[in-house]
Amino acid sequence: MIITKTVKEVKEHVREWKKQGLSIGLVPTMGYLHEGHASLIKKAREDNDIVIVSDFVNPIQFGVGEDLESYPRDFAADCKLCEGLGVDLIFNPSPEEMYLDGFHSHVGVDVLSQNLCGKTRPIHFNGVCTVVTKLFNISEANRAYFGQKDAQQLCIVKRMVRDLNYNIEIIGCPIIREDDGLAKSSRNTYLNPEERKAALILNKALTSGKSLLLSGELDADKIKKAITDIINSEPLAKIDYVEIVDTKELQPVKQITGEVLCAIAVYIGKTRLIDNFFA
Ligand code: PAJ
Repeated sequence: MIITKTVKEVKEHVREWKKQGLSIGLVPTMGYLHEGHASLIKKAREDNDIVIVSDFVNPIQFGVGEDLESYPRDFAADCKLCEGLGVDLIFNPSPEEMYLDGFHSHVGVDVLSQNLCGKTRPIHFNGVCTVVTKLFNISEANRAYFGQKDAQQLCIVKRMVRDLNYNIEIIGCPIIREDDGLAKSSRNTYLNPEERKAALILNKALTSGKSLLLSGELDADKIKKAITDIINSEPLAKIDYVEIVDTKELQPVKQITGEVLCAIAVYIGKTRLIDNFFA
């Protein structure tokens, strides 16, 4: 497995692979890899000749006061996991390598970035779109893999690729959960044992909301209230948002008439966790 920190070196390998007519799958990550990331890498391994994993905590998608400094990092463990999954190249640049002195260019998707996480994290998705664009250009990947865990991110990246005619196929992959239902996340490591238990309220609330919807309740406010009440029954939980949006423009719906995304963000202590379902 090639481990590199420079754009130049990635491009040299890519040029060689392209010359040989090999297909490339890219899995963008911020490292501290777990089974959620592994599921994306496995899918990329199945679909492509070459698999590139990027491992980069992207500073420009973190707002002031967010967890950029404390975001968990363990590059040695990440390399081990990638090696075991047959990754060809892991790209672990420094912020200076990605954002050269005088970097002033940005990519963003309006409307879809307005709600859900975009409301409390206003610069977040522009930071994501910008870094993902760079990674697509550096890797020249045929396909890139994103988890439904970050449903809004997945929708935004897909729209960006469609709107701006990127030569890449975006593959969405299902949410991987712990045995007790908590969605796997690098941020779960922030939770102490008591908070870890309390965090189960996210999946519990969403599961109830989903069965309510599937049993025929089409009033979004009623489903949101049911979810909100369950989350509020947990003293350690503080809601950032509980929202039901259409899957095209990610705008709140009142009456459910087509496919929707139900997404939540909840603080457990100081840790902000997200989860969702499509129905
Ligand atoms: P990160 O949080 O490291 O996630 C990398 C990818 O793994 C994302 O596509 C995310 O949706 C997916 N993922 C995380 N947990 C998952 C789970 N439990 N099940 C399935 N997939 C999961 O998302 C980012 O990094 C960054 O925003 C990035 C796209 C790399 C841009 O910096």
